[in-house]
Amino acid sequence: MMCSNLHRRLSLLLLVIISILSQTTSTILTDPIPTISLEHLDPTLPPVLLPGETPRCSVVVLQQDFADTVGAPPASANYTQPEECPFPWTRVVLELSIVASDLQNDRVAAIWIGGAEVLRTATPRPMAPGAFWHVHKDMTRYSSLLRGLSKGGAVSMMLENSNEALPGVYSANVSLHFYRGALPIRTQLLKSSYASHPSIRGLYREPADLILPISNPNGYYGSGFWFRINNESGVESSTVTIPRNAYRAVLEIFVSYHGDDEFWYMNPLRSTYLQDAQNLSAPRTNGGFRQVYATLDGRFVGGHVPFAVIYPGNINPYFWSPVAAIGAFDMPSYDLDLTPFLEFMLDGQPHVIGLGVRDAQQHWLVSANLHVWVDPWSDVVQAGLLEYFCPPIKMNRNAEWRYQDGQSEINAEGLVRFTGWVSSSRGNFTTQVRQKIKYKSQVEVQNHGTFTQVEVQNKMRMMVGLQKGHQPLGRVQLLMEAPLQMQTSNVNAAGGAVLSKTRLYHQLMEAVTLTEGQAMMTSTLTDRQDAEGTALMNGKTAVWGSGSTRSAYRLKDDNRCYMRTLNAVGGVIMMDAKTASCSAMADA
Ligand SMILES: *[C@@H]1O[C@H](CO)[C@@H](O)[C@H](O)[C@H]1NC(C)=O
Ligand SMILES: *[C@@H]1O[C@H](CO)[C@@H](O)[C@H](O)[C@H]1NC(C)=O
Ligand SMILES: *[C@@H]1O[C@H](CO)[C@@H](O)[C@H](O)[C@H]1NC(C)=O
Ligand SMILES: *[C@@H]1O[C@H](CO)[C@@H](O)[C@H](O)[C@H]1NC(C)=O
Ligand SMILES: *[C@@H]1O[C@H](CO)[C@@H](O)[C@H](O)[C@H]1NC(C)=O
Repeated sequence: MMCSNLHRRLSLLLLVIISILSQTTSTILTDPIPTISLEHLDPTLPPVLLPGETPRCSVVVLQQDFADTVGAPPASANYTQPEECPFPWTRVVLELSIVASDLQNDRVAAIWIGGAEVLRTATPRPMAPGAFWHVHKDMTRYSSLLRGLSKGGAVSMMLENSNEALPGVYSANVSLHFYRGALPIRTQLLKSSYASHPSIRGLYREPADLILPISNPNGYYGSGFWFRINNESGVESSTVTIPRNAYRAVLEIFVSYHGDDEFWYMNPLRSTYLQDAQNLSAPRTNGGFRQVYATLDGRFVGGHVPFAVIYPGNINPYFWSPVAAIGAFDMPSYDLDLTPFLEFMLDGQPHVIGLGVRDAQQHWLVSANLHVWVDPWSDVVQAGLLEYFCPPIKMNRNAEWRYQDGQSEINAEGLVRFTGWVSSSRGNFTTQVRQKIKYKSQVEVQNHGTFTQVEVQNKMRMMVGLQKGHQPLGRVQLLMEAPLQMQTSNVNAAGGAVLSKTRLYHQLMEAVTLTEGQAMMTSTLTDRQDAEGTALMNGKTAVWGSGSTRSAYRLKDDNRCYMRTLNAVGGVIMMDAKTASCSAMADA
């Protein structure tokens, strides 16, 4: 009785708050100088460029408005390399600039060059007309794709937007900036930095000679280049033929998750019995573990537990405005070194590369690039697989529920080791890939389903070693840790709405160590976000809310230390401090 009375009073109070706030919102919208920040930021990675660097050429390669584009094919534009900026370049940077005309939901988007994906990104959730943002991405890794553009090619972008509920139209410009000549000394240091992204893309100093898309071949028409994976048995594949003189191959996988799996990382595990008894939306409660993996002619060749990128509309959208969650603007891609498996691909015949997501529910958007390095001094390279150690991941699943309350836990531990030799003009080298994962997902629900606590531990240690005979030549080690903690309490409000109060902590730590002979280099990326706030949820949509987010970003290597600290409260940046030297920060 007491309880329902309290509920009613709270609901009334909320109604008052909401009506006051909605008035405030409309004043903000008509105010020529909005009080909230219109520029959205994702400082996950340090800036790609330093001040004073001017490109030799800048080309707008695609200009497009995305209004009602659900189910439409990607926007594509023909592109030819400007004559005054021929290959080679010291550097190429992709820039995506978007402005939103009005309120809109956050959307996923991607950019492809000749059908090969180069950027997966999420738009913010524009809360006022004129919201805008820029994404810069170093394209050095994709040089061979850009080189291919010298003969002409297509740049495509997909952003499925709808004006059914909200009027916002996204206007996007995609540009390429080409740099030639010497770069300022500090950039040279930056270029040698290995931990440049929440993925191991920095492992390979020389960009690949060839990039083969593992994407939907009908991409330019139908529903785009990405594959849609609807369930755990849905492996999507593409056929590739690589040159017979390839000596190294790395598969880079892009993913984003949607629909029933949009929140996979906080998914509880429930028994079927309870699903039926409680009529909980059955497909959503299979636990918070996913692994994106690849197959070569049907054989498993490696996988990654994705980093949980929180989309700008999720959990509490007021956390992610104007500072996006870690990795949202330039989502991490995941590298699998396939060099040990070259034996099976060097016959000049087509081979099938498959992509799947373990425990997936509908739906994941997945595509990949096969980066191939070619030995110009050989016609044919020989290779052999020496070790294929790939036991099943040890999974421990426990769930204890009584009506809505209870808890579940998933523990996963895995170790794979692939070793193979490749004999080219460079010599007979052995590559060993070793990956260890340790993952834990815990979900606890209390108080008749009103209090939820989620804890995720995602750890990975990966090593790629190169040796000649018994002599080690070099080694790259990557250590990744991504803990996530969240507590949410819900109170029912008027009209079936729910007032959600949430506290969140999320971190990405990545340390890369490169050893070459006697030389050793280390770099560490540490990004951390702490957010707290309230949102009034009408179903999956937040109708009102507030939030504050503290973010700290730090990249440290042997040459430099970059730091940025940002505090945002109620859509306004209260503090933004950056420095190119951590000691300067300490002095300040
Ligand atoms: C691109 O070029 C092809 C062939 O040259 C042409 O068929 C196509 O219409 C062009 N596309 C655009 C968007 O201009
Ligand atoms: C795109 O470029 C045009 C000029 O070519 C400019 O007027 C427009 O503001 C740009 N839009 C964005 C979102 O940067
Ligand atoms: C899994 O998804 C694929 C399409 O992605 C579909 O063909 C298949 O029937 C689905 N399997 C199950 C068991 O639902
Ligand atoms: C179960 O839930 C679905 C929608 O979530 C609803 O349509 C259906 O009526 C429910 N069934 C029962 C028996 O409550
Ligand atoms: C390369 O080395 C491996 C062992 O390290 C050996 O098994 C293989 O036969 C060698 N290949 C060639 C072509 O010499």
